[in-house]
Amino acid sequence: MNSYTAPADLLKDRIILVTGAGDGIGRVAARRFAAFGATVILLGRTIRKLEQVYDEIAQAGHPQAAIYPMNLEGASPKDYIDLAHVLETEFGRLDGLLHNAATLGALTPIVHYDIELWYKVLQVNLNAPFLLTQAVLGPLTRSLDASIVFTADTVSEEGRAYWGAYAVAKGGAQTLMKMLASELETNTSVRVNSIDPGNVRSGLRLKAYPAGNPEEWIDPETIMGTYLYLMGPDSRGITGQTFRVTAGADLPGKP
Ligand SMILES: NC(=O)c1ccc[n+]([C@@H]2O[C@H](COP(=O)([O-])OP(=O)(O)OC[C@H]3O[C@@H](n4cnc5c(N)ncnc54)[C@H](OP(=O)(O)O)[C@@H]3O)[C@@H](O)[C@H]2O)c1
Repeated sequence: MNSYTAPADLLKDRIILVTGAGDGIGRVAARRFAAFGATVILLGRTIRKLEQVYDEIAQAGHPQAAIYPMNLEGASPKDYIDLAHVLETEFGRLDGLLHNAATLGALTPIVHYDIELWYKVLQVNLNAPFLLTQAVLGPLTRSLDASIVFTADTVSEEGRAYWGAYAVAKGGAQTLMKMLASELETNTSVRVNSIDPGNVRSGLRLKAYPAGNPEEWIDPETIMGTYLYLMGPDSRGITGQTFRVTAGADLPGKP
């Protein structure tokens, strides 16, 4: 689906929430969704970065975005319910939700993993997608064609050594994705899938591989076909799948 060619109005009038929209893949996805007509809600913790994305969308002449500052590490269940109320009041529905924000934590053996850090990583990478999804299911079910997209990482499937809470949270989020897909398959128009973006050039990747060569990593701009496909109407009926992106192409992977 990476080679997916989207019509210019693919996401026209859709309301899409992107977490971690201020940087990396989330920033590129937010801008691309807006370029295809969506009103994008930019959720993240660093307001300066969100404002920059907001300005880039405005300068490009795309539909006006909205900024929703939220630190997923400290957000309470009520904060998510407040967000859902804002969505109901301002838009009446939600058409797309991209769970993109993540924190790496530390690459360290389990025996040495800092316990406080473990809790923090689980909070951002697993509990936050659960809390957010649960809170906004109302607005999502009021859409005629809603799509939830999680962001997967192969390190969780492999149980790769030293990836600690990050990999465990990603594994849990994959289970959550499949569970939601199956719970929502009948009687709702909400589909739920994951994208594993591969080795993408970003701050998170540089933190994980400080000695790596960013030139060898995928430019996030080149993987947006899959994101557009899953957010737009052409993926209607596709649910519970994981799309693994490789340079220039991608394949629906094992569920
Ligand atoms: N890059 C890769 O090779 C790769 C591979 C597989 C999967 N992924 C996944 O792709 C997604 C995007 O990652 P990326 O590579 O684009 O990394 P990134 O550039 O570090 O972006 C992560 C985003 O999450 C936000 N974030 C982190 N902690 C947050 C918190 N407590 N509250 C709110 N927002 C928070 C960051 O905000 P700030 O900028 O304000 O910190 C940033 O906008 C992640 O889910 C990651 O696991 C990436």
